[in-house]
Amino acid sequence: MTTLTTTPLAPLLDRLFAEAEEAKAGIDAAVADLSDEEQARLMRSKTEYRDLYGRLKRAPLAVSRETGALLYMLARSSGARTIVEFGTSFGVSTLHLTAALRDNGGGRLITTEFESSKVARARENLTAGGLVELVELREGDALETLEADLPESIDLLLLDGAKALYPDVLALVEDRLRPSALVVADDADVSPEYLARVRSPAEGYLSTPFGEDVELSMRLG
Ligand SMILES: C[S@@+](CC[C@H](N)C(=O)[O-])C[C@H]1O[C@@H](n2cnc3c(N)ncnc32)[C@H](O)[C@@H]1O
Repeated sequence: MTTLTTTPLAPLLDRLFAEAEEAKAGIDAAVADLSDEEQARLMRSKTEYRDLYGRLKRAPLAVSRETGALLYMLARSSGARTIVEFGTSFGVSTLHLTAALRDNGGGRLITTEFESSKVARARENLTAGGLVELVELREGDALETLEADLPESIDLLLLDGAKALYPDVLALVEDRLRPSALVVADDADVSPEYLARVRSPAEGYLSTPFGEDVELSMRLG
């Protein structure tokens, strides 16, 4: 038995994944006035991400069921006790990672989100899942909220916020990643700068694309 597959978390995740599926039409509507080129430009922008995610503040934008299961398994099998997450949204990935912390015997997850309505939804979901006491929700831009007060040693980092900021957020957390720490980046193909960095052993990582949209990397050292 695991926290992930039992009540209250399993039925909660069923509901959240169903809601995420239903909300997909709303994502298209929220950016319908932007051309494909403009959408691609905003996705890659290091300065206009607030505008893009402001339009998407009602959308869950959750990781897929497969990625959620992968996150649980990676955190669980590596015995993670300290996790940092960039991009909370309604907390679907947070629930998977925190379930692994609980099953590993406890720990701490720091997650960050700048849309306050999403922070409130994530807190509600983490409370409903019985996991909120393991989570520190930092409201604000990750470039500020992850600048200080990080754990001495971090076992796993999930990057799932504005894609263009992946290299910058990695740089904030990098010194704290323990040897063999895992870094999971969702939709990392949007940031060639990030991929170039983690795919270079000279930069201190071993990295591979995994599944449909995940880049899985390990800190060397
Ligand atoms: C793809 S969603 C995260 C989905 C979440 N990991 C899940 O599985 O439920 C990305 C989220 O990151 C937030 N975000 C984007 N850039 C951010 C930044 N610089 N700082 C804080 N939050 C950010 C967005 O508002 C959005 O809710």
